Amino acid sequence: MPVITHIEDLRVLAEKRVPRMFYDYADSGSWTESTYRANELDFQPIKLRQRVARNMENRTTRARMIGVDVAMPVALAPTGLTGMQHADGEILAARAAERFGVPFTLSTMSICSIEDIATHTTAPFWFQLYVMRDRDFIERLIDRAKAARCGALMLTLDLQILGQRHKDIKNGLSAPPKPTLANMLNLMTKPRWCLGMLGTRRHGFGNIVGHVKGVADLSSLSAWTATQFDPALSWADVAWIKKRWGGKLILKGILDAEDAKLAADSGADALVVSNHGGRQLDGAPSSIHALPAIVDAVGQRIEVWMDGGIRSGQDVLKAVALGAKGTLIGRPFLYGLGALGEAGVTKCLELIRNELDLTMAFCGHTDINTVDRGILLPGTYPR
Ligand code: FNR
Repeated sequence: MPVITHIEDLRVLAEKRVPRMFYDYADSGSWTESTYRANELDFQPIKLRQRVARNMENRTTRARMIGVDVAMPVALAPTGLTGMQHADGEILAARAAERFGVPFTLSTMSICSIEDIATHTTAPFWFQLYVMRDRDFIERLIDRAKAARCGALMLTLDLQILGQRHKDIKNGLSAPPKPTLANMLNLMTKPRWCLGMLGTRRHGFGNIVGHVKGVADLSSLSAWTATQFDPALSWADVAWIKKRWGGKLILKGILDAEDAKLAADSGADALVVSNHGGRQLDGAPSSIHALPAIVDAVGQRIEVWMDGGIRSGQDVLKAVALGAKGTLIGRPFLYGLGALGEAGVTKCLELIRNELDLTMAFCGHTDINTVDRGILLPGTYPR
């Protein structure tokens, strides 16, 4: 077993253990992947101010996200097909998050269902909603999330249409899926993964199969989802969903200050500055680049969070310094899951917290809640 010292180690191990089709699904962006790469790269030019001879004892990374106490201002992002990175992946990730003390968000397109996660956890998790044309189905999903006592609904606004990812098409992950000879040969080199899958009954989209008429198997499901994402989604739908849900609402996928103002007007509790991990509009700015203008525009009216490109606790600190009250991580925890299952997700969270804690101390702070732009070297960060 290799020694794991940073997220990249988890990525390398996941690449070895997860079938190519699903590893690629996680580790890819749309079209040229320029936004996917920029999400990570744009953190690098931002420089931190080192401070010395300040008391660094008794540090805390504890914070609050929409009123929820968190061990650090990080939550697990909703990611589709997580149960294909590792058998029962959503259950394992939710358990790791609960034990660590950060929120877990279940995707609409998960393998394990809302009810599965409720059964295997005790802390309230969050549910991410995609708006489908079938509004009856959406109503039932919202009701199921309520019945499972989900603590917040995260409504994703940047996937009314699907950005093209070349690898998914080439690997046959498109709808309907194409099981190619190459994919089958690749599976034979992943015995751990195959064994895990043989031990679980969760192989389809758990929130959908059995809850939509005419959707019973993978191919009818693929056909259904391909036509279901709603290109006509509007702010009126956001108002309708907010009313129907009645609880805390997070709007995900905001990149523009004008949209951020509309998000704040909607009365949501938080918005996530996000380009879907570079998987939708290639050529859009990186999230860390878009963050400061949105904080300036609406930071007094709504909690502003961000996701995209966070690969270390240092990145979390930079986002917090630029005004994010919370962050989400997607691929880092997926790599942990693919590499080592539940222990890998825990490892991912430990690595990030440790890096966050130490970097905060180097910058002269002992409490994450006191961190602001003052820890950044002027001229090195986006405005
Ligand atoms: C996602 N993302 C996503 N978002 C969402 O709202 N619903 C979803 O089902 C998914 N599915 C999904 C699958 C995979 C494999 C990835 C990598 C991402 C986007 C996700 O919530 C988040 O915005 C990004 O992952 C953040 O970027 P990083 O942390 O992966 O760089």
